Parts: sequence; C-alpha cells; structure tokens
Amino acid sequence: MIVFVYARDAHYGIGKDNGLPWHLPADLRHFKRTTTGQTIVMGRKTFDSMGGPLPNRKNVVLTRSRSFQAEGAEVIHSLDDVLQLSKQEAIYVIGGAEIFALLWDICDKHIVTVIDEKFEADTFVPPLSEQEWELVETVPGPIDEKNRYPHEYRTYVRKQAK
Ligand SMILES: NC(=O)c1ccc[n+]([C@@H]2O[C@H](COP(=O)([O-])OP(=O)(O)OC[C@H]3O[C@@H](n4cnc5c(N)ncnc54)[C@H](OP(=O)(O)O)[C@@H]3O)[C@@H](O)[C@H]2O)c1
Repeated sequence: MIVFVYARDAHYGIGKDNGLPWHLPADLRHFKRTTTGQTIVMGRKTFDSMGGPLPNRKNVVLTRSRSFQAEGAEVIHSLDDVLQLSKQEAIYVIGGAEIFALLWDICDKHIVTVIDEKFEADTFVPPLSEQEWELVETVPGPIDEKNRYPHEYRTYVRKQAK
C-alpha cells in the first residue's frame, strides 16, 4: 500500500525555497502521529530540507545519485525500488512534488492537510479528481495563537473501478 501524507494550501502549493511556506505546528504534530512507527519515503530534496532523518520511523530517500549517503536513512534509486518496498510493507510517501508525481497514479490513499489560505509557493501538487478519489474523513485542525490558519485533515481513498 502507498499512502501520501502532505499539506497543501488553497492553491495547491506545498513548498517554497526548499521549505514549507507556512508555520503550522498542529500539522507537524498530526504528521508525527500519522507517520511514527511507519516507513516514510521521500525525495532527496525533501530529505535535505529536513536536515536529517525523522526519529522513530524508517527513513527511505529516493535519489538518482549513486554516491549519496545519509546516516539514519536507507537510499533507493528508482521507481522499481519503491514498488519493491511497497510490496513488502505499507509506505508513507511524504514528498516532495517530484516524488508525488512519480507515484500519483498508483498511490492508494491521500492523508492531506488542506490549509484555507494562499501562500507564496514554488512547488505544487495537482488537485484530486472527484471521479477517482473518495473523501472518507475530514477532521478540523485547531486554530489558536500558534496555529493561525484554518485547516483540516482529510483522508481520500481511491474509488474502485466499476
Ligand atoms: N507541504 C508538504 O507536505 C511537503 C512535503 C514534502 C516536501 N515539501 C516541499 O517540497 C519541496 C521539495 O519538493 P521537490 O519536488 O522539489 O523535490 P523532492 O520530490 O523532495 O526531491 C526530488 C529529488 O528526488 C530524486 N528523484 C526524483 N525522481 C526520481 C526517480 N525517478 N528516481 C530516483 N530519484 C528520483 C532526485 O534526487 P537527486 O537530485 O538526488 O537525484 C530529485 O532531485 C520543498 O519545498 C519541501 O519543503 C512539502
């Protein structure tokens, strides 16, 4: 099973200058709850942006570079490698846009934080088509002094072909 976990804004932006466009600690907690204990797969640029592996998760980094090494992370090199891994265990794909594009058509589930605000962004994901994806859960995120942007945590599953 392939699960995408990400946050996007009202215009489908997900990144800016190899970082996140917003500060939303409640979403980081949601991300931690969702991925702890799981295998997370990410592009090399996203890995670089995090400054190191995330604790209590198996970190897997996708890169074309044969010399890339990262302490605390497994390194893989191709779509085939991702598919092999996903046959052995559920994988939680955490971005970025290049990796989402690579796996978009075969992903089974999106756990997406939708932020109802427009940010400056240079990295985007496409919208989810209603024909293909069913919204099965929506949970509102907290709004408070530290989390100023209205947001909700949505789960979409791929509709079965009829
Ligand atoms: N909002 C969110 O939830 C969220 C989540 C994740 C990331 N982001 C943001 O997204 C941005 C980064 O996304 P991005 O699209 O620029 O980069 P990315 O997807 O994180 O990484 C791209 C890199 O992945 C490797 N790669 C891509 N396709 C490959 C393939 N078929 N085989 C092997 N390796 C492959 C390449 O690494 P090499 O160049 O090393 O070969 C490529 O440069 C940042 O701003 C980050 O903060 C946001």
